[in-house]
Amino acid sequence: MPLNLPGNVCVIGLQWGDEGKGKIVHWMTEPKGPFGGFDLVVRFGGGANAGHTVVVGDQKFAMHLIPSGILWPGVTAVIANGVVFDPETALNEIDELQARGVRIDGNLKISTKAHLVMPYHKLEDRLSEERLGKGSIGTTCRGIGPCYADKATRSYGIRIAEMYDQARFDERLQQIVDAKNRTFKALYGRDALDWKQIRDEYRRYADRLAPYICETTEFLHRALRDNKRMLFEGAQGSLLDLDHGTYPFVTSSNCTLGGLFAGTGLPPKALNTSLGIIKAYTTRVGAGPFPSELTNDTGQQIRDRGGEYGTTTGRPRRTGWFDAVVGRYSADVNGTDVLGVMKLDVLTGLDTLRIAVAYRHNGRRIDFFPTDVHVLKDVEVEYEEMPGWQEDLRPIRRQQDLPKPAVNYLRRLQELMDRPISIVSVGAEKTETIALTL
Ligand code: GDP
Ligand code: IMO
Ligand code: MG
Repeated sequence: MPLNLPGNVCVIGLQWGDEGKGKIVHWMTEPKGPFGGFDLVVRFGGGANAGHTVVVGDQKFAMHLIPSGILWPGVTAVIANGVVFDPETALNEIDELQARGVRIDGNLKISTKAHLVMPYHKLEDRLSEERLGKGSIGTTCRGIGPCYADKATRSYGIRIAEMYDQARFDERLQQIVDAKNRTFKALYGRDALDWKQIRDEYRRYADRLAPYICETTEFLHRALRDNKRMLFEGAQGSLLDLDHGTYPFVTSSNCTLGGLFAGTGLPPKALNTSLGIIKAYTTRVGAGPFPSELTNDTGQQIRDRGGEYGTTTGRPRRTGWFDAVVGRYSADVNGTDVLGVMKLDVLTGLDTLRIAVAYRHNGRRIDFFPTDVHVLKDVEVEYEEMPGWQEDLRPIRRQQDLPKPAVNYLRRLQELMDRPISIVSVGAEKTETIALTL
C-alpha cells in the first residue's frame, strides 16, 4: 500500500467536526494493519461533546470520551490533561464497551490533571442555551463551555486528582456548589443543588475510576523515550476551535494542532505527521456561519445518503458543498501534511458537484477564510462546477477502479488545498478505504 504516514500521527478534523475521524483512527490503529499499528491512542482535548463512530461488521460503537483505538487489543488509550472529563459518561461508555467484549483495564489511562465536568456544568450549559434562545450556540449541553470556563478562571475548577483527597474535595465542593447555587437562583430562579448528593456520586466515580488514573504527561514522555508509536485522536473540527474557528459559534477548546501540545504536555517534535480529515462535502451541527450550506433538496439528499444526524445529540446536521476556502485555511492552521477525504460514496448520483473556491465581500474577492462571523454572514460564494458520477463507490478498493469524474474531483480538491490526498473513504467500515496516489 503506497501510504506513507511515518512516526507519531495526529488525526484532526478540518471542517466543523464529524468528518469521520473515528473511522480513520480505527482503520489506522489496527495491529499489523497497513500502518504497522500504534501503541498508544491519545485524546488531548474536548470532552463528551465528541461522538466518534466506529463500525465493525454489524456493530456500531459511538465513542465520546474513550479514544477509538481502544477497540484493538494491544493499544493503550490515553485521555490526557486537555480533556474535560465527565465521569458519568466515561463509566457508562466503559460499561457498554466491556459488555460488548472490549477489554478495558491497564489499557486505559486517564490524566490526573484533566478537569472534571460536574452536574452544575451541564445544568449551566443547558440553562444558558435556553436563556440565549434564538441567539444560542447550539451546544451539545455536555457542560463543556462551563467546565473550561471554570478551568480558566481557576476558583472553581476541579481536577481529577482532587477526587482522591476526600477532605479537601468535600470542602471545595461545598463552597463551589454554594456559589453556583447563588448564581442559579439569581439568574434562573432555580432550586439549589445538593452538594452532598454530588459528593456521594463523585465518590462512587472516584472508586471505579481509580485503576485508570495516571500522571499521563510522565507516561507519555516515558512512551516517547521508549519509541512507542502514538496516534493523537483530535476531537471536534478546526472551525470549532476557540481561537481559529467561527467564534463565538465554536467549542471552548483548541481543537487544532496547537491544542495537542498543551493538552498532552508533549513537545512539537513528538509529532511526525499531521493528517487532516475532510468530508467530500461539508456539514455542521449547531448554529453559526456556513457559507456553502445547501438548504434545498440537494442538501436533504446529502443528509439522507450520508446519515447526517449527530452521533452525540441526534440532531440533523446542516449540509453543504465542499468548501476549499475552509479546507485550505484549516490545513494551514494544522500544518497538514496529508489529507484523508471521507464519505466520497455519499456524492454518488449528483449530476453536478460544486466546490466553493473563494468568497466575495463588498465587491472584494477573499480566498483566505475570514473567521469574523459578521463578514461571513455577508459573503457571496464563488463556486466551480464539476461533473458527478452515478456508480456506487462502496465496493471499490483500488484507485484505478474509481470512476474518472470521482478521481478528477479528488484531484481538484488536492490542488485547491495544496496537499496530497492519500486516503479516500467510501464507506463506514475500515475495509471501505482506498490508499491513493493522485
Ligand atoms: P467523527 O466525529 O469525525 O468521528 O465522525 P462521526 O462518527 O460523528 O460521523 C461520521 C459518520 O460517517 C459516522 O456515522 C461514520 O460511521 C460514517 N462514515 C465514516 N466514513 C464514511 C464513509 O466513507 N462513507 C460513509 N457512507 N459513511 C462514513
Ligand atoms: P466530533 O469530535 C460536531 C459543536 C456543537 C456546537 C458547538 C459548541 O464528533 O467531531 P459544545 O458542546 O462543544 O460547547 O458545542 O460545537 N460541536 C461539534 N460538532 N462534532 C463534534 O465533535 C462537536 N463537538 C462540538 O454542535 O455547535
Ligand atoms: Mg462526531
